[in-house]
Amino acid sequence: MTTVHFFEHDGTEHTVEGRAGRSLMRAAVDNDVPGIDAICRGCCSCSTCHCYIDDAWRERLPPATEAELGVLEGVSDRRPNSRLSCQIVVTEDLGGIVVRLPESQG
Ligand code: FES
Repeated sequence: MTTVHFFEHDGTEHTVEGRAGRSLMRAAVDNDVPGIDAICRGCCSCSTCHCYIDDAWRERLPPATEAELGVLEGVSDRRPNSRLSCQIVVTEDLGGIVVRLPESQG
């Protein structure tokens, strides 16, 4: 299991354990973290799993695919560190990753 720190837009922290090989989105949903609705259930089409990856971790992730970037183009509160949490696979070397959630998903 890999420790993941989710922060709601108001700063509320949710520290959960994510299973390696599954997505960050699943780690949030399985642990009832508010702000990740994941309406498309990880099909990379809804953007309701949008999140911001802290800079310390951003460069350690594989780059977003064209499909992910396409969905992110439609997100109004997109930032340089925006990602779709359903497209990020939890690995053991991501232990301690910090993931922040947009105010629009509060
Ligand atoms: S859950 Fe829909 S895009 Fe990630």
